[in-house]
Amino acid sequence: MQEIALKGFGETVKTVTFRIRRYDPEKQELPKYMEYKIPVQMGMTVLDGILYIKEHLDHSLSTRYSCRMGICGSCGMIINGKEKLACQTQILELGKDLIKVDPMGNYGIVKDLVPDLSNLFRNHEKVKPYIIREEEEPKSEYLQTPAQREEYAMFTDCILCGMCLSACPTSATDELYLGPQALAQGFRYISDNRDLGFNERLNVLDSKQGVWRCHFSGACSEVCPKGVDPALAIQLLRQVMTTNVFVKFKQKGTANAPERKSVSGVS
Ligand code: SF4
Ligand code: FES
Repeated sequence: MQEIALKGFGETVKTVTFRIRRYDPEKQELPKYMEYKIPVQMGMTVLDGILYIKEHLDHSLSTRYSCRMGICGSCGMIINGKEKLACQTQILELGKDLIKVDPMGNYGIVKDLVPDLSNLFRNHEKVKPYIIREEEEPKSEYLQTPAQREEYAMFTDCILCGMCLSACPTSATDELYLGPQALAQGFRYISDNRDLGFNERLNVLDSKQGVWRCHFSGACSEVCPKGVDPALAIQLLRQVMTTNVFVKFKQKGTANAPERKSVSGVS
């Protein structure tokens, strides 16, 4: 193999093999794995390795990325069996000579490592991920104390990478399930004291394919690269749907909620 050092990196420390799942739905071929040997230098991430392959060994490899710093959420994939952001995964820290790379699960494939995230975005949209108010134009600033922000703060860190849905065993068996990302965002908005959209989201969240479909495996929270805990959000949503926390939501004025009508039958 002719070694071409990556710009900005130092000496080659070792050579590793990337085994990458290749699939092009436009070709009449089954998915297959292809192997590439690459020189690894200190600081190289899995994304750097994939881009090395694309630049020097196989231009036809497709992947998805943008920021290269763990912010945009574009480079989620399965690396040695676990969902990870490729730009945040150091090759040397994996401690392996063979790195297996698969596209995220529970999504269609656009090509190779590029998943079709339409389902993730569609479900996100269903929970109305924005502040809902009655008035069209705000008459003044909507105030919020630090403690009120704290009630949902963790869930604002979601970067929509989709890895929680990829890891979720319920999403694997039920494509209609809303999924951990959308449910966590549903909780984020109904917990915001500036929001009045509790009723508008209730039918989607409090439904068979919503909060009640989760089996609570916790895989979503395990893989989240931002420390968001969708499994916790789902438990908190269930609490809201089944106990007098619902009343608290009414009392503090966060939700313009009428008397409860349970879609799930649990009350
Ligand atoms: S909750 Fe975490 S894993 Fe799920 S989409 Fe958001 S950032 Fe990604
Ligand atoms: S490229 Fe943006 S998170 Fe990895």
